[in-house]
Amino acid sequence: MKIFLDTANLKEIEEAVSWGVIDGITTNPTLASKETGNFWEIANKILKLVNGPVSLEVTALDVNGMVEEGKKLAALGDNVVVKIPMTIEGLKAVRRLKEMGIRTNVTLVFNSNQALLAAKAGADYVSPFIGRLDDVGEHGMDVIRDIKRIFQNYSIKTEILAASIRHPIHVKEAATIGADVATMPFSVLKMLVHHPKTEEGLAKFLEDWKKVKI
Ligand code: G3P
Repeated sequence: MKIFLDTANLKEIEEAVSWGVIDGITTNPTLASKETGNFWEIANKILKLVNGPVSLEVTALDVNGMVEEGKKLAALGDNVVVKIPMTIEGLKAVRRLKEMGIRTNVTLVFNSNQALLAAKAGADYVSPFIGRLDDVGEHGMDVIRDIKRIFQNYSIKTEILAASIRHPIHVKEAATIGADVATMPFSVLKMLVHHPKTEEGLAKFLEDWKKVKI
């Protein structure tokens, strides 16, 4: 499973990329709003830092507006993926952008029928929001499982990008089901590294090494 970082924060991206485990980045307007700099400058820096797809989201609601924004975003770099909301206008925009050779990630997906439609329109990625489904008492991971089954049934190539990941169990379950990508905040990525027995074991090895004659 590929690991994407869900952030527009350059420091977090630089640090996580240095670990050698980051395959791409996803951003959204909320994440962009948390940063103080100019969005276009930040987007350009992210695109240079990351050797992999970077999702940048449109904010227009009509197909023409989405396509125009999508073209502008795609012109920033070869690794741009245009994030499009799951609406009827969004589906039309996905089709139009595909015809122009621009990759898309359909966001705000909350069930498998939406994912199927996005795939049929030509999306490269679909982003089901796991955590937000859990927030309203549904099992977000069930949606990943259903989409995986449907895409396998019809040999659909669209990648399943598990989004709104809140904790390590989400990551493990997404990987177990076979999601193509999980995008997560830096806080969750850091949690994946640590285990108290790893830290305890390392401290003991270092202590015992002092007794070894070298
Ligand atoms: O990038 C979309 C998604 O990952 C947002 O997550 O935590 O705001 O539900 P969250």
